[in-house]
Amino acid sequence: MKIAILGGTGSIGEGFALRWAEKHEISLCSREVGKAKTAADEYRETLLSKGMVCCGITGCTNEVGIKDVDVVVLSVPYQGVVELLKTLRPHFKDQIVISLVVPMKKNRWFEYTPPKQGSAALEIRDILPKSVKVVSAYHNISAKKLANPALVLDYDVVICGDDEDAKKVVMELTRDIKNLRPLDGGDLGCSSMIESLTPFLINLAIRNGLSDLGVKFI
Ligand SMILES: NC(=O)c1ccc[n+]([C@@H]2O[C@H](COP(=O)([O-])OP(=O)(O)OC[C@H]3O[C@@H](n4cnc5c(N)ncnc54)[C@H](OP(=O)(O)O)[C@@H]3O)[C@@H](O)[C@H]2O)c1
Repeated sequence: MKIAILGGTGSIGEGFALRWAEKHEISLCSREVGKAKTAADEYRETLLSKGMVCCGITGCTNEVGIKDVDVVVLSVPYQGVVELLKTLRPHFKDQIVISLVVPMKKNRWFEYTPPKQGSAALEIRDILPKSVKVVSAYHNISAKKLANPALVLDYDVVICGDDEDAKKVVMELTRDIKNLRPLDGGDLGCSSMIESLTPFLINLAIRNGLSDLGVKFI
């Protein structure tokens, strides 16, 4: 599968590139092509130095990356994603777009700050062409843990979306990351519930002296 990771130069984008490059072709995307190429070289080196397979990680701009891929991962902060997607809109066709975007701010504690649509995923769906299938997932996965390919992630990933086939694809991609268990969280309207868990988990970690908490339903 061909996967473009927008903002792939950042914290959680690195983890997805390292985890999926063993099986998939990755377009590592940035607003700056030089930054993308440097990060792609670095991630490829990391995999090879660990003796892991790398199907390919290519650095490119966000615009170039989304053309001719099956899946686009929005690994960009909420504060930048709306403007970015408005600019990129003409380049989208019928890709699956994965939103892991969490709108939140820090006052005394972290707070979920959804847009008027109710969640980041619904706002993103409104911006993109109707032919694009938006799926919401990975909001509660720690970037630090994801970026260590040797680490087994014994967590659940709740996946929300309106297109059942697109959701199945994201479930398969989730199974490609060792021990992650995909769970069907319902339609895209349910995304707010899982997005809002992220600031809750961060506050829980701070209050209890923990770090990088994830979710497992038992
Ligand atoms: N970090 C986590 O543990 C975690 C966990 C779950 C979900 N998430 C979600 O994943 C997304 C990415 O998080 P992150 O921690 O990886 O973010 P990040 O490291 O702060 O940023 C990721 C990348 O986004 C691009 N970017 C930054 N500001 C931008 C702007 N205004 N417009 C366009 N692109 C911009 C940058 O790439 P270029 O400069 O190369 O363009 C940057 O490297 C967020 O929506 C977050 O809510 C994060």
